[in-house]
Amino acid sequence: MQNFEYCTPTRIIFGKGVVEKLPETMKLFGKRVLMTYGGGSIKRIGLYDKVKELLPDYEIYELSGIEPNPKYNPSVLDGVRICKEKKIDVILAVGGGSVLDCSKAIAGGALYDGETWDLITGKAETTGALPIVDIITMAATGSEYDSGGVISRKETNDKIPYQSMHLFPKVSFIDPTYTFSVPKHQMVSGVADAMNHIWEDYFNLDPNGLADGMMESALRSLIRNGLKAVENPEDYEARAEIFLDATLACNGILAIGEQFSGWPMHGMEHALSAYYDITHGIGLAILTPRWMTHILSEKTEGRIAQYGVNVLGIDSSLPVREQAEKTIEETYKFFESLGIPMHLRDVGIDESRLQEMAHHVAVNEGLDRPGVYVPLTEQDIFEIYKASL
Ligand code: NZQ
Ligand code: ZN
Repeated sequence: MQNFEYCTPTRIIFGKGVVEKLPETMKLFGKRVLMTYGGGSIKRIGLYDKVKELLPDYEIYELSGIEPNPKYNPSVLDGVRICKEKKIDVILAVGGGSVLDCSKAIAGGALYDGETWDLITGKAETTGALPIVDIITMAATGSEYDSGGVISRKETNDKIPYQSMHLFPKVSFIDPTYTFSVPKHQMVSGVADAMNHIWEDYFNLDPNGLADGMMESALRSLIRNGLKAVENPEDYEARAEIFLDATLACNGILAIGEQFSGWPMHGMEHALSAYYDITHGIGLAILTPRWMTHILSEKTEGRIAQYGVNVLGIDSSLPVREQAEKTIEETYKFFESLGIPMHLRDVGIDESRLQEMAHHVAVNEGLDRPGVYVPLTEQDIFEIYKASL
């Protein structure tokens, strides 16, 4: 068991209709609000009007058009400018993980005199942030319950995680009924993202039984309910369980006491979505079985097999290597059964920039630093990309 500190200061308000509690929550933070949102889904589901109806006495400024893989320029820069000019008290983020991640960067930048990019890269320390309240409408990233966000910068093909204790949302409203309208490819991408957050933690060098059990349970829940939600998008119980799984999956609680693994699949996926603007969870689903195959060895086969036996029901009487191989095969088949495209070519990525991306990841993501589960060199990363074509 590793030494650890754990604290999540975010209040979660979960369930059908919880948005009605928005007025009593917002009054804790002030009247001048920056409401952030994406390309219009919140208007289509009636949430935009609902927020306006619930907050009639507030001075609400808006930042709309935040894109998936949220961009530093213009979204973060525009948001920081509005916060400073209008002396915003609180950011109300309404949408998916991209809207919330962008809002976290705005919240940090709003209280900083220099370039917000320096906070994101860690060149400057984040010493404070505006409070964030969110109404999260996608089950995927867990941004509603963690202290990070991921920001992209097109000019440099960077996609950088920005993390600080100051970035935990103050309050997250999670109403699973909002996810009924999420398009199927986004919904299954969210399931794959949440599962991947769990695998990134699960494959580490110092596991413990409590954390393993929680992670295996959440993986089983995502598989069971992912299939149910594909079958019936309005299955409330399935949507609710998926949302709770996703909320917990990126927060560290499920892997409590375990060693940091290096998060290799996220490191590799960041380049795919930075260079090609693909959907994060789809990139992860494509990489996952190829990464598992690449690292399969005497050292890792037992752990892969443990996941397979406890989550996928793989026959534990088979030789361990065979259990691990079947596990990888079944993981691939599960993603296929959700309708996820399982090749990079299917999402518009060809061979031309694989080496360049592998180099970018090797230089920027530290996937071979000491203590990671299996260190990956530039050549390893290139081979995993190639196998994913
Ligand atoms: O832009 P709008 O119109 O709102 O549409 C969005 C967007 O097109 C739509 N959508 C969201 N909620 C909806 C809905 N459509 C209908 N009904 C609803 N209720 O879905 C599309 C995707 O939204 P996005 O916010 O991009 O998805 P997601 O929540 O998966 O966020 C992805 C981003 O989060 C980062 C990813 O890298 C990516 O940039 N991540 C953030 C993490 C974190 N903060 O901890 C961890 C993750 O590993 C991840 O890296
Ligand atoms: Zn992720």
